[in-house]
Amino acid sequence: MAEPTVWEQVLDPAHRADPYPLYAELRRTPVSRQADGSYLVSTYPEVLALLHDPRLSSDPSHNPQFAAAMAEQPEDRPPSFLLMDPPEHDRQRRLAMRHFGPPQAPRRVAGMEPRMLEIVTGLIDEMAGKTRIDVVDELAYPFPVSVICELLGVPVEDRPRFRKWVDMALEAINPGVDPQVQQQKREEAGNELFNFISELVERHRQAPGDDLLSAMAADDGPEGRLSTEQLASTGLLLLIAGHETTVNLISNGVLTLLRHPDVLERLRRDPDLVIPMTEELLRYEPPVHFIPIRTALDDIEAAGTTIPAGSPVTLLLAAANRDPQHVAEPDRFIPDRPDNQHLGFGSGIHLCFGAPLARLETQVALTEFARRFRNPRLAEDPPPYRPSPILRGPRHLAVDVDAG
Ligand code: HEM
Repeated sequence: MAEPTVWEQVLDPAHRADPYPLYAELRRTPVSRQADGSYLVSTYPEVLALLHDPRLSSDPSHNPQFAAAMAEQPEDRPPSFLLMDPPEHDRQRRLAMRHFGPPQAPRRVAGMEPRMLEIVTGLIDEMAGKTRIDVVDELAYPFPVSVICELLGVPVEDRPRFRKWVDMALEAINPGVDPQVQQQKREEAGNELFNFISELVERHRQAPGDDLLSAMAADDGPEGRLSTEQLASTGLLLLIAGHETTVNLISNGVLTLLRHPDVLERLRRDPDLVIPMTEELLRYEPPVHFIPIRTALDDIEAAGTTIPAGSPVTLLLAAANRDPQHVAEPDRFIPDRPDNQHLGFGSGIHLCFGAPLARLETQVALTEFARRFRNPRLAEDPPPYRPSPILRGPRHLAVDVDAG
């Protein structure tokens, strides 16, 4: 049997705990062609340039691996703006964004901080008396799920219903999974989730609340409203993107702090350290390791290699974040690293929409973790990881604490 390629090793769950040496190997060839005709890009300047290059499309119908599935997509189930190019991407993003942040909605995220603290305090209070906790199940998952549901206006009682479908939808985007199985999972999870969110949009149209879905449903701005289907796609995107990634940033954050007890101690003494530290976490242990679905619309020259028109391209954000040509001592976690330019939230027109929310949630969770737990230490290192090589983070994070 042939030796696995470096990329096959990255995808192999056996390397999930520490893919960074493999990324260092990939960076030796900044743009590399894989046997299936796709291209991997792993160095900072090239990833950054391609994130800003209009010749690289986010629309999967241009991608030979996904075109057939996209052609079968029912018309009443349009893709979200994450998978669109301008001008429609820009229009739908603007229509959603105006209700999410300044200038129109300056308090939507910042105004949630007291509520975030209340949720985290409640979750930590529930762990009182325990000497072993699971940071993923008891804090890092329930916290962002509660926040995004409250923000969107998803009722508490509906929350358990969508977890199963979300897990299935995420499995469907894992590279290396048989395309037919991917398609089947995508369809099954997609149908359930789409019906769920469409019903919710309808309820919000009829009885609007103070939430983001209601605000988007009632928009009478100069650019017109999103259709019910577009609104459902956007709501679904926000629901999934709004928690699956933040879970990993919080869990990776706790893991990194427990591996660097001196930093945990500094954070206890100086809670403001959490602001630059969150940026360093997004560089050092980013929740999104790579962006898999991009396609070259034209021949593109990068680092002396021509990516031919029509080729699928994968941008390795996590490898670029540790490119020694871009950042000094890339494998060291420096919580107050100056001038930290990471790609943890991507860059360019698809730059993460939810970044201000994710930053604030992580800052609240990590500050309270440091403040409230006595003598926390890892019960298992490395912890077991979730299967996805893209959205990378621990499945469980067992931590021993002194009973308080
Ligand atoms: C730590 C947490 C998060 C990380 C690391 C993260 C990362 C990213 C990245 C890398 C992209 C770019 C994708 C691309 O270029 O194709 C992105 C896009 C996006 N994210 Fe996040 N995200 C996080 C949290 C959130 C939250 C909380 C929300 C929603 C409230 C959100 C909503 C979105 C949306 C809607 C897009 C698509 C933007 C567009 O296509 O214009 N994300 N995110």
